[in-house]
Amino acid sequence: MNQAVKKNNIYFHQHSPASADMMKEIHQGLSKKQKSISPKYFYNEKGSQLFDSITQLPEYYPTRTEVGLLKAHASEFAELMGKDSILLELGSGSSIKIRLLLEALKPKIYVPMDISEEHLIRSAERLAKDYPWLEIHATCVDYSKPWQVPDFGPGRYNAFFPGSSIGNFEPADAQKLLTQIAKLVGKQGGLLIGVDLKKDSNTLESAYNDKQGVTAEFNLNLLHHLNEQRDVDFDTSQFEHKALYNLDKGRIEMHLVSKENQEVQIEDKTYHFDVGETIHTENSYKYSPDEFHALAHKAGFSPEKVWIDEKNLFSIHYLKVFE
Ligand code: AVJ
Repeated sequence: MNQAVKKNNIYFHQHSPASADMMKEIHQGLSKKQKSISPKYFYNEKGSQLFDSITQLPEYYPTRTEVGLLKAHASEFAELMGKDSILLELGSGSSIKIRLLLEALKPKIYVPMDISEEHLIRSAERLAKDYPWLEIHATCVDYSKPWQVPDFGPGRYNAFFPGSSIGNFEPADAQKLLTQIAKLVGKQGGLLIGVDLKKDSNTLESAYNDKQGVTAEFNLNLLHHLNEQRDVDFDTSQFEHKALYNLDKGRIEMHLVSKENQEVQIEDKTYHFDVGETIHTENSYKYSPDEFHALAHKAGFSPEKVWIDEKNLFSIHYLKVFE
């Protein structure tokens, strides 16, 4: 980890740039029989903005439902997590939800972690202005890989992982990530995590196929993001958005479908796409409370409490590390 840079009440912790890794991962993904690219590459600055627009869509129920739960139960979360704690947030994005928690919890230290550096910095600066009493350690990390955070010494550690972003991971990888979080917060540590629930396919599929086409733009922005890299040249007009609920696997899948037979040049390699062939760009797994508890248990967490809205759309779990 590099030396932290301090500005007002914000410390910035930066990791080495990931662009070499990125190209390696892109080649690997496109060389598979089912071509795939990780959803983490949605989030350049534009992608983070598009995601923020998604959260406002009438069809996209997760964000507003989760915010409703956070508002309704903030003081209860604060009681469970304890005052003067150290609060880490995974995939903090625009850091809107965290405000609800910060006000109730008044932690000593807040550690927002996100892969999109500019977005992270801007959000941290806004928070620093609004909460001058708060020590903020903005940390740019790709949490799909083993990561490091600065050591803040003894204290009560809690992690906050809202938005059902855990759903992006294959269950086995989700378990690994939860295990990492358990290590991060340590004994007596806790995790407040938002998890989207299984439900009828129509509700799910509408949420990822909005009428305004923002999700389609978000999905296609992945190719624009890749085109920003040297020697990557996708013709973005030759791909279209597709999202479906895979009932067997309990996940939404997003794909980019090739509209034509085409070749795409990336560095020194050429990739062929048949018409109709897809790049799998995202999974969004949905979990019943029991399924999620089973997963969390394998990662060393025991369920403390779960909150669900009255329409049964979304859940928030509070989990604690067991010895
Ligand atoms: C940020 C991963 C939770 O899976 O619902 C929204 C991303 N993709 N619309 C989700 C997303 C398309 C979102 N997560």
